[in-house]
Amino acid sequence: MSICELDILKSFIGLYPLFILLRLIIYTGKGGTGKTVTSCATAIKIAEHNYKTLVISADPAHTLSDAFMMPNIGHDPKQVLPNLTALQIDPVTEMSRQYNTILSYTAALFSSKGIDETLAYEIAMLPGMTQLFSLLKVEEVDRAKTFDAVVLDMPASGEALRYLYFPKLVGSIGRKLTGLAGLFSGFAKIFQPLAKFPTPTKDVIQSEMELLDRLDVLSNIINDNNRTSVRLVANPDTFSIENAKRVLMSTSLYGINVDMAVINKIMAGSSDEYYAKWASFQRSKVEEAKANFYPLPVREVELYGTELRGIDMLRKHGEILFGSDDPSKIFYRGEPYMFVKEGTAIKMTVQVPFTEKDDFSIERYGDQLTITVKTVTGQIANVVPLPVATAGMKLVKAKLLNQKLKVQFEKESL
Ligand SMILES: Nc1ncnc2c1ncn2[C@@H]1O[C@H](COP(=O)(O)OP(=O)(O)O)[C@@H](O)[C@H]1O
Ligand SMILES: [Mg+2]
Repeated sequence: MSICELDILKSFIGLYPLFILLRLIIYTGKGGTGKTVTSCATAIKIAEHNYKTLVISADPAHTLSDAFMMPNIGHDPKQVLPNLTALQIDPVTEMSRQYNTILSYTAALFSSKGIDETLAYEIAMLPGMTQLFSLLKVEEVDRAKTFDAVVLDMPASGEALRYLYFPKLVGSIGRKLTGLAGLFSGFAKIFQPLAKFPTPTKDVIQSEMELLDRLDVLSNIINDNNRTSVRLVANPDTFSIENAKRVLMSTSLYGINVDMAVINKIMAGSSDEYYAKWASFQRSKVEEAKANFYPLPVREVELYGTELRGIDMLRKHGEILFGSDDPSKIFYRGEPYMFVKEGTAIKMTVQVPFTEKDDFSIERYGDQLTITVKTVTGQIANVVPLPVATAGMKLVKAKLLNQKLKVQFEKESL
């Protein structure tokens, strides 16, 4: 269902008033897999379906300019095509534009501790901050109601992804802390000359509260499976597929919907022995990825003859990926891995593509579970990363029912 159909349907059944809800699609994956080009290609295609679309990149400067082959795509929104605007997040600009109050307070706090206050600007450049700012940009765009869809290009480094899950956490902890600070700031002012650090002023508290409210809204957007989808981008290699699997596990844990995986840069077969060997290795990786991500839809894209860039090639890439589909559609709803806490036990459900009851074996190595599955193409091992919470637990049961493997972990008795 497309953005509009969804909204109209919801407004009919009284879930939402009649206004267009922002659709958010987040592409993530290892560096170099093709997130930026795939985000741009998707955005072009959504725009061509007549949605006002914004593509945001959290990559270092110039990336969008390079992809669209268009100069000066920076931190001010730039129209790329009719209905399509592009924006490159610049953390330092965002920080000083939006969080100057908090920033100067942090700087004062640092200098009171004898730390150089320029460090506050260094904080703006910490890994992951760009991702946080691009997510906050999504909240801003949602508030302004100027776009129907945002496509976000987001690297999958450990720190960066945490920010996807971060809003809820910081929202609840931060509110308590800031609430306390607000309560005591009046008192603290009296004692300020004695205190070793500056007291936050009303302005600081106000802007912290605003930030927390925005994080709340953001978290509601991200966790709304009718609005937000994460799409994984990987190449036919072990490293990027493993990375995508870890992302899938984390998103499942946090209840964020992943609706598609893209395996990009697949080499075509060749009569040359060297290339043929690579092509056959990659084919086995694609099959493995399909089994690992099952039942998530997996789209395959070949490695083109030339570097993928420029509007024409990006448009072609979008065609190959989506054909006549509306790319803003939610392609899948579900959680390939699901962890539920029940009393002292943790129950994991994994969707697995096999048919026969005894066609699987299961083994645990530390924080990973290896599920070996027999399929038509032979044995496939699906390594599922386990959440930290299972660390002190024992695998007690594994049962297969309706293409779902249910595994139970229990606390080890002392
Ligand atoms: N299917 C493809 N065929 C050929 N080149 C590609 C393909 N996908 C991506 N590329 C190229 O690979 C490089 C990395 O792509 P990019 O989108 O920047 O990756 P990421 O954002 O994941 O780091 C770019 O030079 C891009 O043009
Ligand atoms: Mg990129």
